[in-house]
Parts: sequence; C-alpha cells; structure tokens
Amino acid sequence: MEIKITDNVTSVESDILVINMWEGEKTTNSLANEYAVEQDNFKGKFGETYLLPTYGKEPYRKILVLGFGKKEKFCPDKFREAIAKAIKKCMQMEAKKVAFSFDGVEFDYAEQFTLGAYIADYKFDKYKSEKKDNKIQEVYAQANENTVRNAEKMAAAMNFARNLANEPAQFATPSELADIANDLGLETKIYNKDECEKMGMGAFLAVGKGSAQEPKFIHIKYTCDNPKKRIAIIGKGICFDSGGLDIKPASSMLTMKDDMSGAACVLGIMSIIKEFNPNVEVHGIIAACENMPGCSAYKPGDILTAKNGKTIEVDNTDAEGRLTLADALCYACELGVDEVIDIATLTGACMVALGTQAAGIMGNDTELVNNLIKSGKSRGERLWELPLWEEYFDSLKSDVADMKNSGARWGGASAAGVFLQKFVKDVKWAHIDVAGTAYLDKPQKEFISGATGAGIRTILGYILEQ
Ligand code: BES
Ligand code: MN
Ligand code: ZN
Repeated sequence: MEIKITDNVTSVESDILVINMWEGEKTTNSLANEYAVEQDNFKGKFGETYLLPTYGKEPYRKILVLGFGKKEKFCPDKFREAIAKAIKKCMQMEAKKVAFSFDGVEFDYAEQFTLGAYIADYKFDKYKSEKKDNKIQEVYAQANENTVRNAEKMAAAMNFARNLANEPAQFATPSELADIANDLGLETKIYNKDECEKMGMGAFLAVGKGSAQEPKFIHIKYTCDNPKKRIAIIGKGICFDSGGLDIKPASSMLTMKDDMSGAACVLGIMSIIKEFNPNVEVHGIIAACENMPGCSAYKPGDILTAKNGKTIEVDNTDAEGRLTLADALCYACELGVDEVIDIATLTGACMVALGTQAAGIMGNDTELVNNLIKSGKSRGERLWELPLWEEYFDSLKSDVADMKNSGARWGGASAAGVFLQKFVKDVKWAHIDVAGTAYLDKPQKEFISGATGAGIRTILGYILEQ
C-alpha cells in the first residue's frame, strides 16, 4: 500500500471514494445525501458504512460513506479506528485504489490516518497456501506529506514487529533474533552462552537451560554525533514460554510464542531508527532464550546469581521473564546511559488488571513515566501507571537468598516491577508490561487478531520527541 498526497481527492480515478458522515448530519456529497441519508435513512453512526455506485458518472466507481458518529464524541483515536474500518471494508471489496475525502475534522489527522491505514492493511498469511489478493495498492488523501512519511515509517516498524511476534516459535528462535539483529545494518554485538557466563548472567542463563536452543544476548547500537541523550531499550525475548518445569496449562501456553513481543518491539524500533536519524543514542538490548522443561532445566529451589551479584531463589520457573530482564537491566546500567526503558509481556496479573486495552507502566522517574504515557496517548497506545511500592517486595523475601522470583498472587504486576528495580542502578528507568496488549485473541479496533506491535508507537514516539 502506498499513500499518495493530493489536494484534489475527488478528481482521482479510484475504485472507491471514502467520505465521512457525522451522525444526524448531511454529507457534502449530493449522491450520498440523496441515497444514503434520504432514501435509506443511513444515520452515520460511528463505524457504520454505506456503499453506493456512481455508474461511471464520477471519477470514483463507488462511494463509501463512513459513519464518524457524533461530532462532540469524535477524537483522533476514533479517527484512526474509523480509517482502519474503511480500509478493511475496501480490502473486502478488493479495491485497488481508494481515495479519502474528509469534511469537518478539526484536528491534524495525518499521523492517525497513516497509522490507521497501515495497521489495517496488515495480514500474516505467509503460511497460507492460498493467499487472497486483496491488498490495496494506492490510497489518496489530503494531508501533510512530512507527517505521513514519518508515520509510515513508524507503521512499518510496527508491522515488522508484528511479523516477528506472529512467527511461530519453531522459526523465531533466539539465534534467528540474533541473525535479524545482525542484519539491521547497525553496530551489533551478539553474546553466546559462554560469553554470557563470563559476564556473570546467571539469572538469564538459568532460564534457557531446559531448551535445545542456545540463548543469545543481543546488543544493537544506534549512535549519532553529539547525542542529546543516551537511552537503552530492553525487550523481553522469551521465544517460547512453556512455563518450564512449573509448566503452564495448555490453554495458557497456546499463545506463548508471543513472549518475545518486547524483543520484537526493540527490533522493530532499531530496524527503522536510521531512517529517522534522531539526535539520541539508542541501545537495543535483548536477552533471548526459550523457557522449556528439558532435562537440564532450572528447577524450583535453585539459587541463581545475577550479573550484579544478587542471589535469587527460584520460586516458580514460570516467572522467567524477570530473571532474563534482571541481567539485561544490569548490563544496560553499566553502559552509563541516561534512561533505561524495558518492555515485556511480563505478568498475567497486568493483563487481569488492565485487560487488552492498556499496558501497565512503572518506574523510578515520574517525568520519564509521564512522557511515555503522553507519547503513547497521542498515537493510540494506552499506558496506565501501576504502583511500585517497596511493600510489594515483602512477598519476594527469601529465607536462603536475597530474593525469590515470585511470591504472593495478588499485585503480581507490581511485585514483578519491584523485583526488576533491584537490578536498576543510578539511572532513570521505566518498565512497560504489555502482557495484555501485545497479542490479541480476537480482533480489536484497528487490529486483527495476533501480534499488535505494542510499545513501538510509545517508545519510538518518545525517542523522536527528544
Ligand atoms: N509470559 C508470562 C506472562 C503472560 C501471561 C504474558 C499471559 C502474556 C499473557 C510470564 O512469564 C508468566 O508466566 N508470568 C507468571 C508469573 C507468576 C508465575 C509469578 C504469571 O503471570 O502467571
Ligand atoms: Mn512465564
Ligand atoms: Zn513469560
């Protein structure tokens, strides 16, 4: 799909012209008013559509009237969602050229338009033997060119991440993630198991022990002259989470190829960063491995030593993400960066708290947390701050080590946050839990089921705002 900017959308020869309609109002198009509004009593409720042929009398073969709902309830998020609806509808009709004409939208919609269109344009059909040829080729709209081109890159990063997280675990292995990182054309260092051992990453390495796949620790660096700031982004990279010896029930394991969505987010951002050329140094870090119950697997009761020397008693092998992140956080803090942001499908508890509508966020710096929330909000990602009170550590106290990797059931998202904080040293840090938002069991708003590229808009947007 390609977005073309034009000041005269209605003169483009297209398969479909999409026009918006405010609920209870008339449109600016006389055909739409005559047939949709007057004859068929089309109301223009949010997300509803009405199709009408033009029988060769107009440059566009059909008109799709797109309900925008009540004007006072409209907002950029609704706009993006409506665009996605229209794009999907046009795909169903196998339209190749689609023009969009908007009336009465009072905000700059260029970014939302582009994101909505590209999010809806996505499908994951590489393993279907019969592929539908219903891709839209050209989309026309009147919008700010520069904003569209930048949002396009962001959407490309999202769809890159969605492809990675949708990829079955049999293919998206730690080595595969390392190869992908190596191919990004940035300065990249991959540490193998022995090198991780030398670095003292006892927590990360324990998690990967039960798998036939070798763990890989990935460090990608983007740099520029005189960076204003230095940021490390860490993505949880559990290529498959079976739970380990504390094995998950089948229904919970079903989607666990998505447990590297944080890593996919980091790789997505690093895949496009050169094209934005921001004035910030960005380190992408992934501790990639599988959590499997093989015969060498780590066991409940084992005591692990993380890179910073802290000891951890394994309470539950299914609380593996925090173990891998612990060593990744230590590594990132040693880089001497100004800020560390980690993103992880970390806890079922976060999903219970916020559902699939919002990611949880915690951190030790209010400004960083608030700026991330703001960045997400302006681009359609919701983040909700959860507390990081020290009391959550109470249930992680161990009789035999410095801490346990899990404890009480209640407040699990915050307990995981407090656990991670033990590995953060002298740096501004935020932790984003995308357990609920990274992967959808069923379609939601502009997304089809599957991976969503969660965190890309928030974190990349934040980086670009520096
Ligand atoms: N990867 C899971 C968290 C998760 C759950 C992500 C559902 C996406 C959807 C994580 O490794 C996990 O298993 N967490 C446990 C922690 C518990 C054992 C303390 C959980 O949340 O149940
Ligand atoms: Mn787990
Ligand atoms: Zn996990």
